[in-house]
Amino acid sequence: MDAFLLDYSLTRGEVILEFGYLIAAVCFIIGLKLLSNPVRARKGNTFAAGGMFLAVIVTIVFHKDSTGAGIASANSIIIVVTISLGIIAGGILARKVRMTEMPQLVSFFNATGGAASALVALIEYSNPANLSPLVTLLSLVIGSIAFSGSIIAYFKLDGKVGDISFSFMKYINSLFLLVILAFVMIMLTGDYGSGMDQILVYTLLFISLIYGVLFVIPIGGADMPVVISLLNSFTGIAAALAGFIYQNQAMILGGIFVGSAGTILTVLMCRAMNRSLLNVIMGAFGGTGQSGGNEPGAQIKEITASDAAVLLSYSGKVVIVPGYGLAVAQAQHECQEMVRLLEEKGIEVRYAIHPVAGRMPGHMNVLLAEAEVPYEKLVEMDTINPELKNTDVVVVIGANDVVNPAAEEDPSSPIFGMPIIRAHEARNIIVMKRGMGLGYAAIENSLFYHEKSRMFFGNARDSIRKLIVEIKVL
Ligand code: TAP
Repeated sequence: MDAFLLDYSLTRGEVILEFGYLIAAVCFIIGLKLLSNPVRARKGNTFAAGGMFLAVIVTIVFHKDSTGAGIASANSIIIVVTISLGIIAGGILARKVRMTEMPQLVSFFNATGGAASALVALIEYSNPANLSPLVTLLSLVIGSIAFSGSIIAYFKLDGKVGDISFSFMKYINSLFLLVILAFVMIMLTGDYGSGMDQILVYTLLFISLIYGVLFVIPIGGADMPVVISLLNSFTGIAAALAGFIYQNQAMILGGIFVGSAGTILTVLMCRAMNRSLLNVIMGAFGGTGQSGGNEPGAQIKEITASDAAVLLSYSGKVVIVPGYGLAVAQAQHECQEMVRLLEEKGIEVRYAIHPVAGRMPGHMNVLLAEAEVPYEKLVEMDTINPELKNTDVVVVIGANDVVNPAAEEDPSSPIFGMPIIRAHEARNIIVMKRGMGLGYAAIENSLFYHEKSRMFFGNARDSIRKLIVEIKVL
């Protein structure tokens, strides 16, 4: 057996290492496939995590450097201890975090991925054995941008940082990009390994970190989803580049999967928001305009639980538009219970899903999957919109920006151009929210003042519970 292996100049350890990476890659692919369906997503996560665990273990045990030496036992101990600490911290964080804070957690994880790649690049740049300075510098730049950008995204999603935007911001951002490019060129053509190199590499790190902040901070309105998925793809690309530095297949593959998934998501989000990717990269869109208001003197009309129950119970077709408020109220189970009661009365009920409803891609799908809403009941925006004219009642639960007609009617609105769920076209509209609070884009919504709209104020969970009681007695 050994003789056979030696013919191919591979030791037993190297064969196990390569096999380990191959199995890990297969696990990543199966994991990704399973993740595309909310029902199997948990299994997909376990598969992908198992693949990564295997890749880490075979690397620690079987990796050899160019001199044939394995990882020193002291280093192995450090690796195992730090990974264990990471697993404990990650486990505690993931268990403690509230569902509504998940988007922030995802941004934080994105930031750590970017930081890890940037640190690998920073250390390896001065390694005389490193033969790929371009890849190293790209990993440093993209990793740093992903890190600082994701930290700002974290604080913006948490509401701790607002949108700071000036008209000349896109010029400053373009200038920063040019400076970063110039630095990379100078470092590639300069005297590699000199003392000057060290100053340049730290300066490049610093400039890239600042660019990450400047790139995300002006993004306002409802445009954050595009940026979040773009930062996600940056993290993957940076990890893949770091993998190239070490010629490590598992890192390259894992990074490429994250990078390409993030890129596909970015393109989908751009389409969903009707924005161009170039504008995103230049940080040129978004804004904090306060337009989208209602007619002066316009009044809202309220509805009681019993009237809402009557309206719903005597309808033929009902469409529910879930939004971020449904996630805040954790009312998905009550919502599905109400749908079940209406269906028992022979009413056709479906959910209209906007691609950026909530605070993370697929937020509503995950939320409703938790309440075991059948997947075929979730209808995408483009499919449901033409049917809304023939819908008796649209029930907007904790959604705001995704049903704001200003996106179609008001060119001065920061969300102008974003496709919306056209709830205003339905015959009747019931809006459930706590008060007249604004949505993420912080703009007024004329839908609430529409002649067909009735406001049902209260925490969505309490309101739906009241509705359930009333529907049951009808
Ligand atoms: P939003 O526009 O954020 O509106 C949510 C509404 O829910 C608020 O107006 C709030 O009004 C209401 N609400 C909050 N807690 C509630 C509760 N407990 N019970 C009932 N209502 C409650 O939500 P949306 O329509 O889903 O739009 C999503 C927005 O987030 C878009 O602008 C999108 O671009 C942005 N965003 C999305 C993502 C992704 S990837 N999905 C990421 C970042 C940002 P009250 O305070 O009056 O109750």
